[in-house]
Amino acid sequence: MDQVAYVNGSFVPLSEAKVSILDRGFLFADGIYEVSAVLDGKLVDNASHLARLERSLGEISLKLPETTERVQEIQKELIARNRLIDGMVYLEVTRGADAGRDFAFPKNVKPTLIMFTAIKDIVGAAAARTGISVITLPDIRWARRDIKSVALLAQVLAKQAAAEVGAGEAWMIEDGFVTEGGSSSAFILTRDDVLVTRQNGSEILPGCTRKAVVRLAEERQLRIEERPFSVEEALRAKEAFITSATVFVQPVTSIDGKQVADGKPGPMTGRLREIYVDFARATAV
Ligand code: PDD
Repeated sequence: MDQVAYVNGSFVPLSEAKVSILDRGFLFADGIYEVSAVLDGKLVDNASHLARLERSLGEISLKLPETTERVQEIQKELIARNRLIDGMVYLEVTRGADAGRDFAFPKNVKPTLIMFTAIKDIVGAAAARTGISVITLPDIRWARRDIKSVALLAQVLAKQAAAEVGAGEAWMIEDGFVTEGGSSSAFILTRDDVLVTRQNGSEILPGCTRKAVVRLAEERQLRIEERPFSVEEALRAKEAFITSATVFVQPVTSIDGKQVADGKPGPMTGRLREIYVDFARATAV
């Protein structure tokens, strides 16, 4: 059965879901996206994703063509129509299609809103048990990484470089410190049991999973420092892991071919993953 996608007010077969070649998302990457996980047919931490969507859109002076309440209704209808149990909903808003290719904002053009779903067993993923290796490379992205822009070429190249050597993620480095993963936030657990992840700012995307994990860890009296860390510090750490909507909490067992601790997924990472999965299930809508 063909999957169903949403395009500007209509639910259509995925194979027929199309936007114009003049769409500014296509021409200029003039758009914002969000990815929300789906567990047991329900949206995980979606209010956090929709709040970040509104913020990103505000930063590029683009207005959501629907209310966030309506966006969530559409997400849910798409999940139902696709009978999605576990996976994710992708959504993208662009500045729409004008008659030509003017860099400045077009007048009276309706933004494009599209959504589709994908199946993924996030909870049962093998990488959660085995861990992943990461490679590092320079962070060549623009200066507003807090905006969840669809301009992802730097991440495409970084993650391709990782894939070519069998690594699961690329950590991007700026001024000697890890910013974040190509599509995830980066964490370490130091030898004295401090959870470290880079503070939010224009250098990284404020991850929704990162935010929830930090809060859940704080509630359990774990020590947390939001500050940059280097690869050297990560290699001295007890544990390392990444977080995102599509992996939740995933252990990192080696960096650039060097083991983190004993090269096995760490117990604290496993515990935080369980805690996050419980939170995700309990609060999904
Ligand atoms: N990526 N950092 C970057 C650069 C990201 O692209 C993502 C998410 C994250 C984690 O954010 P969150 O926890 O809100 O998913 C951090 C999505 C999953 C993607 O591009 O597919």
